[in-house]
Amino acid sequence: MLASASMRDHSSSRIDLRSDTVTQPTVAMRDAMATAEVGDDVLGDDPTVQRLEELVAKRCGKEAGLFVPSGTMSNAVALKTHTVPGDEIVTERYSHIYLYEGGGYAALCGSSIALPEGKYGMLTPELVSGAIRKQAGSQSHYPDGRLVCVENTANRGGGTCYEQSILDEIASVANEHNCGTHIDGARIFNASIATGVALPRMAEHYDSVSICLSKGLGAPVGSVLVGSQEFIDQAHRWRKMFGGGMRQSGILAAAGIHAVEHHVDRLVDDHRRAMNLATAIDEMNHVHVDLDAVQTNMVYFSADGYTASQVAEHMGKQGIDMFDISPTHCRLVTHLHITDEDVENVVAALGTLR
Ligand SMILES: Cc1ncc(COP(=O)(O)O)c(C=O)c1O
Repeated sequence: MLASASMRDHSSSRIDLRSDTVTQPTVAMRDAMATAEVGDDVLGDDPTVQRLEELVAKRCGKEAGLFVPSGTMSNAVALKTHTVPGDEIVTERYSHIYLYEGGGYAALCGSSIALPEGKYGMLTPELVSGAIRKQAGSQSHYPDGRLVCVENTANRGGGTCYEQSILDEIASVANEHNCGTHIDGARIFNASIATGVALPRMAEHYDSVSICLSKGLGAPVGSVLVGSQEFIDQAHRWRKMFGGGMRQSGILAAAGIHAVEHHVDRLVDDHRRAMNLATAIDEMNHVHVDLDAVQTNMVYFSADGYTASQVAEHMGKQGIDMFDISPTHCRLVTHLHITDEDVENVVAALGTLR
């Protein structure tokens, strides 16, 4: 059974737009989990985990993959594999790696961080070039810029997607400066569906990509880090040290395989609903959306005369959940369980905010 694109397939009566992480495994996904063949993955013999790692690596045009419990661990393992203490990581000012991963780059990698601020959460080759510092020639004043990270889609940018030429140029600037390259591709399938760029092309010049299965793809747990075999062999050791080695994790990997095989093409529905929602609420005099930023499954908006937390509270009373992501802006995220009718109800509820 495929996840229905038009029916809420779990029991909540609330319209939950806080994140695409709130998705519940579908019946078909649960079936796949229940019947998964498993082994002990720490001992290297869980066939379903291996199948997932190979599947995701192949979908991204990379040699190997590593299944980890979360996107945060996937990024942390990648950062650790790319750097040594005293290095510096370049990432956008509002990137997840900087804002929302507990300062792992500092605590786990001993790295400092350079934070150029881009438009819509995205870096440019010029910003990257200006941000990479090297110890050599600085009388040891500078740390060693060693890694450039981009986020695609860029969450705080509005769910925005990089142009391929910009991604390529950023990678080339990084390579010129002897830096590794990493994509936080928590929602890279959304980026690929929205831009029409195939993942192997998108990731062609990047050393590693972190891909989340538990966001728009609807799996309950897990991310896959992909890269060269050599990179993944090193990452495997850091995963172990970070406590991310799991045993009969084929149960979880089966959900991931189901997600990749059945829930990618339907992301187009999430994107269409986000755009419908954004255009409808932007037509209201008191609500404002930057429609240029609405490129995938997210809508950031503000409302005249209200703080974002007041808006979220007002909507919450009407059974609609969202995050106030800043003092002025709320975020709505469409996903597997959001229907066209839900979109209409959200528009109607925002109309009552007067
Ligand atoms: C862009 C981005 N990267 C990484 C993560 C981390 O994923 P997780 O919540 O699985 O740790 C998130 C989570 O929302 C995200 O939005």
